[in-house]
Amino acid sequence: MKNRNQVFGWSYLCNLTICIFMFSSLALTADVHADGKVQGKCYVIGTGPAGPEHATVKAIETIKKADFIFCSDQMQDRFSDYLKGKTILGSPWRGKFKYSWRDRDKLSPEEKKLYVEERINFWDQTAARIREEVARGKTVAILDSGDPCVFGPSHRVIEGLKEDEFEIIPGLGCFQASMAALKKSSIPAYDTRFVMLTAPMFLFGRPQDDAILKDLSKYPITMAFYMALNHADTLINSLNKYYPKDLPVAVVYNAGFPEKEKVIMGNLDTILAKIKAEKENWLGMIFVGRCLEGQPQRGMVKFVSQ
Ligand SMILES: C[S@@+](CC[C@H](N)C(=O)[O-])C[C@H]1O[C@@H](n2cnc3c(N)ncnc32)[C@H](O)[C@@H]1O
Repeated sequence: MKNRNQVFGWSYLCNLTICIFMFSSLALTADVHADGKVQGKCYVIGTGPAGPEHATVKAIETIKKADFIFCSDQMQDRFSDYLKGKTILGSPWRGKFKYSWRDRDKLSPEEKKLYVEERINFWDQTAARIREEVARGKTVAILDSGDPCVFGPSHRVIEGLKEDEFEIIPGLGCFQASMAALKKSSIPAYDTRFVMLTAPMFLFGRPQDDAILKDLSKYPITMAFYMALNHADTLINSLNKYYPKDLPVAVVYNAGFPEKEKVIMGNLDTILAKIKAEKENWLGMIFVGRCLEGQPQRGMVKFVSQ
């Protein structure tokens, strides 16, 4: 027969353990304020370039805990195993590239103005919805591809939130996955000074573009272009004005996808024809630089020892 103290001791211990467990799981997803009110959180999750295989443990654990999910249809497919039973609130960047079903670049100035107003309105509405759930103590996850801090559209929404309402979980970017596919070092590499991450839409389309490229061409660099397949003509033709024709160029398609990853190699003279022969015009990165040939790190050692 157990005495009162033993029974009381066991139930006290059990209750304490349950409380610690509840509070520690809450701590992972929510802040408890001094007044006892629980605040949820919005997580922008870098999910990696190609699905769960490349997502971090933290990314997966946070997805599992989320009450609400914002993501694109493609992301929903990729992470379907982890999204069962969750409320999907749609894509936070719906309509990003289209306005009235037309290409953003072909809009009149008046339409562009309306486009910007409509976009900001949409992001504000999404941020307001997130804030509402966070205030109710819920966990909201935005699934972004690769790493959210390089060409990650989620920032448009979270810039409308307060600092303590959101957290960013870093992810493996397509830059890293692509360089791994190329099996090369982006830097150090021979006399390369820096690595440039950009996209043709940020480099071209303004009067000073040529001057920028001309200046850039004075320095040995590794260039990585996102969202470039659709603008390959402009990109390669412009680079051809200032760089030697034998400068190596590589394209990595579907980096990290086991069945689909593909690398094509060439130089400024030959790559355009090879890109045109491929169907994919979104999921690929273009790399330009000497790092793509030979032994870039050994080359660097030789270079500095000269
Ligand atoms: C909006 S950006 C997103 C980049 C993402 N935040 C990252 O860090 O990987 C989309 C562009 O990233 C590149 N990209 C994304 N995933 C890729 C993949 N698996 N393989 C090759 N390129 C990819 C393509 O250039 C695509 O047009």
